[in-house]
Amino acid sequence: MTLFLANKHILLGVTGSIAAYKSAELVRRLREAGAIVRVAMTENAKRFITPLTMQAVSGYPVHDDLFDVHAEAAMGHIELARWADLILVAPATADFMTRLAHGHADDLLTTLCLATKAPLAVAPAMNQGMWKHALTQTNRQVLLDKGVHIIGPGEGNQACGDVGPGRMTEPAEIVEKVNAIFSSGLLAGLKIIVTAGPTHEAIDPVRFMTNGSSGKMGYALAEAASEAGADVTLVSGPVNIPKPSHLEKLDVVTAQEMYETVMRKVAEYDIFLAVAAVSDYRCETIAPQKIHKEEGPVQLTLTRNPDIVASVGQLARKPFIVGFAAETEDVIAQAKAKRLRKKMDMIIANQVGSGAGMGADENAVTLISAENEISLPLMPKRKLARQLIKLIAEAFNKAERRQ
Ligand code: C5P
Repeated sequence: MTLFLANKHILLGVTGSIAAYKSAELVRRLREAGAIVRVAMTENAKRFITPLTMQAVSGYPVHDDLFDVHAEAAMGHIELARWADLILVAPATADFMTRLAHGHADDLLTTLCLATKAPLAVAPAMNQGMWKHALTQTNRQVLLDKGVHIIGPGEGNQACGDVGPGRMTEPAEIVEKVNAIFSSGLLAGLKIIVTAGPTHEAIDPVRFMTNGSSGKMGYALAEAASEAGADVTLVSGPVNIPKPSHLEKLDVVTAQEMYETVMRKVAEYDIFLAVAAVSDYRCETIAPQKIHKEEGPVQLTLTRNPDIVASVGQLARKPFIVGFAAETEDVIAQAKAKRLRKKMDMIIANQVGSGAGMGADENAVTLISAENEISLPLMPKRKLARQLIKLIAEAFNKAERRQ
């Protein structure tokens, strides 16, 4: 199974069911899969499993009170709702499902569910009669209609002695289902090639020219595309990021190598994401030996590197092309001109400097196409990547329909 949970922020809600004893194992399994888990408990959940247990397995203090001044000062409920990439409520009681279906916000967990923009998933756990009851089934349908993911319940022996549906799905299976929520299938069946990172252009055997690109945005986009079901090839310049496990990575060093790799492969792909900060110039000749200090200035003659994205834009059968424009001034105007000049379908414009963009962990961008301009505020690159992939997938599908 491919896991997409690495570094995902999962807020686990625990409500008052005997199945809450399995929530500790669920936290452990989510963390094993790479997720960062914080736990919010209802008052009744604490009758079944202690906050201390949940704190020990998650590595974070448990959130349990909407009106606790100290907890709010540490991480307020709105901040927590924003932090989450997914809120998973497991176990979810019949009462919790009812309150969620009706938009209640009278305790911390329901408030978080209402405040978040992240997807919601619930794993119901209750007596089989309660599950089968028409009111529970109506609430289940309301939640499904509102886009809430419902995991299970399973069937079998129940703690109360009954046999039937209502058992909370086993933690291992919940992890698989949560994984499937992240791999949303928006780009299922499509092949995507992504360039990422900087390039190194040698001056002599020990020196090179490069730039401040960390590769974080390109890697985050490659991962988000893969989560969305695409078959992804990442053509990467030299970076310090571990290889994502579920995609093909081709390492290159120079702009020329990146160009040759992309041009050799690109015909097989549906979408090209040009995220790399490719060096525009290389040395006309690379000194065969280390250049030694001299008294006067040293002159290097630089020659232009091929423009990879512009070359792909010239192809007769070209993929859907998305490029980047990292600019210091006139960001939108520069990006629009670049999009047309390089024959890109979309361009992602960002202002560089001041903690955003190149090398930073966060970015704020504007996505520009022939039809529209969408601004996305400053946020972590991984989160931004998921939003961008969604928008790119929508634009790609629209362009496909027009053909
Ligand atoms: O012209 P500029 O370098 O600002 O354009 C940025 C966009 O062009 C990015 O998408 C980048 O990956 C791509 N590019 C490229 N090959 C180059 C230079 C830039 O693919 N040699």
